[in-house]
Amino acid sequence: MHTYPYTITISSEKGGVGKTTLATNLAIYLKAMREDLPVTLFSFDNHFTIDKMFELQKRSENAPDVHALLMGVRAKDVVQTGQYGVGFIRSSTELADIHERFKGPMTLTKMLSESGISGIVIIDTRPDLNILTQNALYAADRVLIPVKDLPSLENCKNIFALFDQSGIDKKSLALLPCLIDSRIKFEGIFRDQKTLLRAIAVNRGYRCLDTFISKSPKVESLNTNPDGKIYPILTHARGTEVHSQFMEISRDILRGFDATTETRACLYHTWLLEKEAHKKKQYLARLEGLTERCLICGGILAEHQGDRSFYFETSDRVSRGFLHGECVSNMLCSAMYGLRDNDSTFPAAKALVANKIAQSVSLLLPNITTGASTLDYRQYTLAGEQQLRKELEMPSFDGGSFDGIHDRLYLFLNEALAGYEGAVREGSWLSLYPVNPENPEAILHEESYKIVRRLQKQIAETIAVIS
Ligand SMILES: Nc1ncnc2c1ncn2[C@@H]1O[C@H](COP(=O)(O)OP(=O)(O)OP(=O)(O)O)[C@@H](O)[C@H]1O
Ligand SMILES: [Mg+2]
Ligand SMILES: [Zn+2]
Repeated sequence: MHTYPYTITISSEKGGVGKTTLATNLAIYLKAMREDLPVTLFSFDNHFTIDKMFELQKRSENAPDVHALLMGVRAKDVVQTGQYGVGFIRSSTELADIHERFKGPMTLTKMLSESGISGIVIIDTRPDLNILTQNALYAADRVLIPVKDLPSLENCKNIFALFDQSGIDKKSLALLPCLIDSRIKFEGIFRDQKTLLRAIAVNRGYRCLDTFISKSPKVESLNTNPDGKIYPILTHARGTEVHSQFMEISRDILRGFDATTETRACLYHTWLLEKEAHKKKQYLARLEGLTERCLICGGILAEHQGDRSFYFETSDRVSRGFLHGECVSNMLCSAMYGLRDNDSTFPAAKALVANKIAQSVSLLLPNITTGASTLDYRQYTLAGEQQLRKELEMPSFDGGSFDGIHDRLYLFLNEALAGYEGAVREGSWLSLYPVNPENPEAILHEESYKIVRRLQKQIAETIAVIS
């Protein structure tokens, strides 16, 4: 069964509010409270606090880190089990170039949904709102925003604004008063720092956790010791208020985790799969209506798989299919230069035509009148710009008589454009798209076919304007 992580992002644009302390210790508490729950932690910061706290052995060269994860290496190959049973990904100083890759806001969500990681993922972010932080915010089932004072509270409006802009539900966002000095007391109803911060937060419409984290000299001392280590609160500051506050926050997180049946990663992945399935259905429907034969030579296409070099589609989409490259070049060479196959100049002219049509979209717009039928032939770039226009004579087209030059063209137009009782459908035309003979069907894939549809529309518009 596919597994998805429940993601918690710790974010604040303000530095030094306790993000990393919260992320690392939360991981340890969650793991301690629920041993069988996988907890994975990583940071977009370059402080290496996570590495120092969790590594069981010193980093070896080329050890995979967050950079590798963001470059697309599967999570199971970058997550390592560290101290206290917490899974972690090593930090990296090289995340600047990643920003290029992360143009979209959902890239990390997609990575996490395909990562195979289960349980809880905690992401510690940098004190900014760059594209990586944004990705971490959008991926989160819960966002904890530590605030320690008014400036940090001011700053959170950017996170809320970001969610507003993207139309994402803000219910995942919650403020957490941190580094609260309980010695500071005020007169009046806002007795202390946390009450004041909470009141202002609520007044601005921000959700705030019931818990807070006290400022504690003991906790502060945990990363300053002769061993050069960073000690967890759980093991080294059990006697403090902060310990019970972390217990409370962890319980709250676990309640949220237990109550969530579909995580963000799961919902996003399901949506992606549905989109893919829909694309596939549309693609199969496009394959359905294709002609079985090359309408120029009449050969069954399945028998000569190799030379399907053009896709044609009529203006009304009634007839669509692949054509042999040879057949198209021969047909257009004869029609454009008035040459027969056995004329000495035919091969050279054909090579010229073949080269041109392989790089452009050809439009064939017949104008059938008694005796003096013509063919309006045009070439467009793939961007829809007209490069060439030629009026080709089609003598006695309506009479159906063959002249050795226009025969292929007559057959093709009649097969593709013939309507009720054989006459060519009024005002109809068709266009030819070069395709890769190795994989002609690729033109019917969503993205390529969008281009075909757009060009067909553009061509129809230019025809309407001119005639
Ligand atoms: N509850 C606490 N009591 C006392 N000191 C704390 C507490 N929590 C964190 N600190 C100290 O505050 C400082 C900043 O904490 P931390 O590194 O977690 O913040 P940060 O938001 O991750 O900072 P940055 O934005 O630079 O990444 C550290 O020195 C840390 O030891
Ligand atoms: Mg930090
Ligand atoms: Zn053919």
